[in-house]
Amino acid sequence: MPVAIRPLHPVFVGEVTGVDVTKPISREEVAAIEAGMDKYAVLVFPGQAVTDEQQMAFTRNFGNIEDARGGNVTKPEDKRLVVGMNDVSNLGKDGKPLARDSRQRLFNIGNMLWHSDSSFRPIPAKYSLLSARVVNKKGGNTEFADMRAAYDALDDEMKREIEDLVCEHSLMYSRGSLGFLDYSEEEKRMFKPVRQRLVRTHPVTGRKSLYLSSHAGAILGMPMPEARMLLRDLTEHATQPKFVYVHKWTLHDLVMWDNRQVMHRVRRYDESQPRDMRRTTVAGDAPTVAQAAAE
Ligand SMILES: [Fe+2]
Repeated sequence: MPVAIRPLHPVFVGEVTGVDVTKPISREEVAAIEAGMDKYAVLVFPGQAVTDEQQMAFTRNFGNIEDARGGNVTKPEDKRLVVGMNDVSNLGKDGKPLARDSRQRLFNIGNMLWHSDSSFRPIPAKYSLLSARVVNKKGGNTEFADMRAAYDALDDEMKREIEDLVCEHSLMYSRGSLGFLDYSEEEKRMFKPVRQRLVRTHPVTGRKSLYLSSHAGAILGMPMPEARMLLRDLTEHATQPKFVYVHKWTLHDLVMWDNRQVMHRVRRYDESQPRDMRRTTVAGDAPTVAQAAAE
């Protein structure tokens, strides 16, 4: 059965059938999925009961797996999953929901803010793939917003104004907006702000998009309150319901998205119950703008 994609939303998101993600796939299938990603920016693959190994193998069809170091406050010895897998569950190494005051849990609450994965890295992520291994009964939908449609809907004056702006992104900005403010010296070095263009152009389709993320907390050459107000306004514009798709998880869904073209967030859920979601990430291939020289 050939790969087939059915649209799930008026401006983006497709549902993919005719592919078994647990097995090696052909070059033609990889090309069809990549073309689908370029067009839809988010692809939903229902009924894919993958193991971690199978998820990583499928992910490598689209590029190298991103090095996850520097992306959270969880110590290596406390990690539940193998290297290559990003744990976006609410579970500790013992498999139980994290305690309410767990630092790891409080840091991860930042995933409920609109963001683009790894926009805090000098070379930000290309794709993310999220597999639902245990679905929480209450809440926990993941929402996606199409940053191309949001860009297209700006007026020409705004497009001109923001065309060459460069933002600073850091995990300390997103977490700081929730009042998570205490970091070790090592974490401060790890979470040092990086630069990203505010308007990106897709390398294949040439479509422009807003590169927004709650990790963005400053704009070069602009006073901070003015910059944050502009970012807040643009985010409000970009996350209007007409640009948003709400994904309600079913067990064994695999959802793949292009971080260069969409933002996403998870909604609140019952954290006394397990929610086991496992992500793999395809590394990006270039920075969006030159970084500041190292001090
Ligand atoms: Fe994320």
